[in-house]
Amino acid sequence: MDRIKITGGAQLNGKIPISGAKNAALPLMIASLLTPYTLELENVPRLADVQTLLRILANHGVDYAVNGKRPGERAETGQTLRLTAASIVDTTAPYELVSKMRAGFWVLAPLLARMGSARVSLPGGCAIGTRPVDLLIMALERLGAVIEIEAGYVVAKAPRGLKGAEIEFPKVTVGGTHTALMGAVMADGTSVIHNAAQEPEVEDLVRCLIAMGGRIEGAGSPTITVHGVAALSGARHAVLPDRIETGTYAMAVAMTGGDVLLEDARPDLLQSALDAIIESGAEVSVTNEGVRVRRNGRSLMPVNVTTNPFPGFPTDLQAQFMALMSHADGTSVIRETIFENRFMHVQELARLGARIRLDGDAAYVDGVERLKGAPVMATDLRASVSLVIGGLAAEGETLINRVYHLDRGFEALELKLSRCGAQIERLSA
Ligand code: EPZ
Repeated sequence: MDRIKITGGAQLNGKIPISGAKNAALPLMIASLLTPYTLELENVPRLADVQTLLRILANHGVDYAVNGKRPGERAETGQTLRLTAASIVDTTAPYELVSKMRAGFWVLAPLLARMGSARVSLPGGCAIGTRPVDLLIMALERLGAVIEIEAGYVVAKAPRGLKGAEIEFPKVTVGGTHTALMGAVMADGTSVIHNAAQEPEVEDLVRCLIAMGGRIEGAGSPTITVHGVAALSGARHAVLPDRIETGTYAMAVAMTGGDVLLEDARPDLLQSALDAIIESGAEVSVTNEGVRVRRNGRSLMPVNVTTNPFPGFPTDLQAQFMALMSHADGTSVIRETIFENRFMHVQELARLGARIRLDGDAAYVDGVERLKGAPVMATDLRASVSLVIGGLAAEGETLINRVYHLDRGFEALELKLSRCGAQIERLSA
């Protein structure tokens, strides 16, 4: 298994191009199941999760083509995917594929909407606590589906099609909102989704569904109205920039010091995280080309954050911010309110010398002056990259094991960081 070796201490200076968002690309790719026509997606990141989802979609009968590079495109320029589900040949999503990636479960709604039945394995995904799918099932039941769980599979039927309905989520769920949208977009009549997720990735899916002929209002607010249409057409859509990748590199620069332009980053997608980074003592400015992050010799200030649904501080940046705070001049409190067990990085950061106490949903981080390199192990995708951030600032050598988590979510990570001066390399097994 590959490992990543980092020799810490170097500042980051230069430019990092921000990729298309993984968590927007995945539901957009899944939306291709809704139409027999071609959906062309630009700026899709080259990631292991995208490859896994292509395998899941191909199993249902989706033909796909990946465009080659055009003149002027860089190594890390996103790829263009053309996805065509002319006919669905199989409505079962098997355990072997869905267990690799939780978002694979989201094929349930479009398969059901288009074919009237679907059989999808209960999902896998990151080790960040129990991640139920009860609210996704509830949304489809509200739309008239009959659902049973049989031998680890969710079996859903709607022989006479889905019907528009009121769907009220008791808690904000991104996957639940994607599911409700893809179930409602071709349902008979109007649906209203209450307490919908306002995450930018939901808005990006809605923009694409509208380009495909969907009639949807209110995306980006807690109430989304969907007027069902009989059929959807193909479309062309560019995936929005990855706010989690943006925040991760911004925190890396705040950690090491230096001056980096995050090209194509959109600050409005992560204002709460940028505010926390500014409060910690880094400078953040917005230019025509993206977001510039700088920190000179000043020490880092402790900042308390609590994760919340968008526009709150994102849970997917919690581990990275904890790495940053482990080097702050004082104690910070980091609360995780989205997932109940998303603190697997704490004991690994401790190997680098971080001092963190856990108490329920709160982590108390006593900043230390120096982190020291060590062998560490990644447990989920965002936890892994928090160890990269720790390693970049630590004295000496950090060896990160189980790098496949990073490959699921960060495109060309070593290349992007080493171009800015980091000493980072992949050791192939
Ligand atoms: C999406 O997961 C993201 N994944 C996650 O990113 C992200 O952490 C999460 O949203 C929150 O922002 C993708 O977009 C592929 P949720 P999702 O449904 O949709 C509970 C990453 O690292 N819940 O919004 O699965 C759930 O347990 C990943 O890229 C139920 O109780 O998250 C959690 O406490 C990790 N019942 C809360 O809702 C349900 O049926 C929010 O989860 C569904 C969810």
